[in-house]
Amino acid sequence: MGTLRRTFGGYFHPAWADLHRQVDSIEVGVESQLKAYALLTDDRLSTLIPDPNTRPEALHQAMRYSCLAPGKRLRPALCMASAEAIGATAASVLDAACALEMVHAFSLIHDDLPAIDDDDLRRGQPSCHKKFGEAIAILAGDALFALAYETLASSKHRGPAVVECLKILSKSAGSDGLVGGEVVDVESEGKQVNEQTLEFIHSRKTGSLISASCQIGAILGAGTDEQISALADFGRHVGLAFQIADDLLNELSTAEALGKAAGSDRARMKATYPAVYGIEATRAAASKSVESALAALKTLPKSENLAGLARFAIERLN
Ligand code: IPE
Ligand code: IPE
Ligand code: MG
Ligand code: MG
Repeated sequence: MGTLRRTFGGYFHPAWADLHRQVDSIEVGVESQLKAYALLTDDRLSTLIPDPNTRPEALHQAMRYSCLAPGKRLRPALCMASAEAIGATAASVLDAACALEMVHAFSLIHDDLPAIDDDDLRRGQPSCHKKFGEAIAILAGDALFALAYETLASSKHRGPAVVECLKILSKSAGSDGLVGGEVVDVESEGKQVNEQTLEFIHSRKTGSLISASCQIGAILGAGTDEQISALADFGRHVGLAFQIADDLLNELSTAEALGKAAGSDRARMKATYPAVYGIEATRAAASKSVESALAALKTLPKSENLAGLARFAIERLN
């Protein structure tokens, strides 16, 4: 990858200059690190998702089309980096990492549906319902969601730790997590929302699964209660920073750069940080969340990769 300075060459630079200076030396390499986690994830996902020639073929093709499409695989990376931060290996939590990506892919498929965000482009290709039709897209999302729990429950981990992780994943995805956040996101379209509602949406639609990714990596990596709680905290801050950056990118970038719609939040009058706070305050909020995330890592022995991923959450260009 290039230097952080190059990464910051875009519109983020002025507001995030302080953060930039702090992390200059460490940040080099995060993209190749992320790629390494992604390769590991995709290799395993390809085995876990049923063969495209197995009946019902259209369903399995749609599941593979969306889940294996080029995405950043940030949630698996955070899960594996969290395990590594407390001395476990990335490979030991790989199936859990894949389960997290399946839940994420389900959420993207459903988020793009005409009844929700009505987006035709995702991960640089036609969104699932554009390619396979709405019925198959809805069902491919459902099947990925189910496969996530099967995958986590079937991994080599056993006992209370797995039950706890299944609980965390369920809660993070459900009505007080991702799905609940999506509901309030949709209900808020076209309205002026207050800061509390915006925080409610972002912390749930995006923050909860990102925090769960870190927590699950910590639990399956046999972390102490303090380490698990520190990583959950870290994940909450990264999750918020990540969604704030998503809002900024939607407002300021292009569909070509993002591989998904740009300008659509403004067009649909979505509840976003730029809409509520303006661009400069939004950048400051993103930086602040990353700083809080980095502070949560203080007591962890090997947190360099996590720190890099936290910074990447707001530096990224897509
Ligand atoms: C997009 O997530 C949806 C949000 C929660 C903001 P990502 O930006 O992680 O999407 P992919 O996985 O890289 O496609
Ligand atoms: C992100 O929603 C959260 C989920 C998909 C659950 P957005 O609607 O803000 O994300 P993009 O911009 O479509 O990726
Ligand atoms: Mg949405
Ligand atoms: Mg969307």
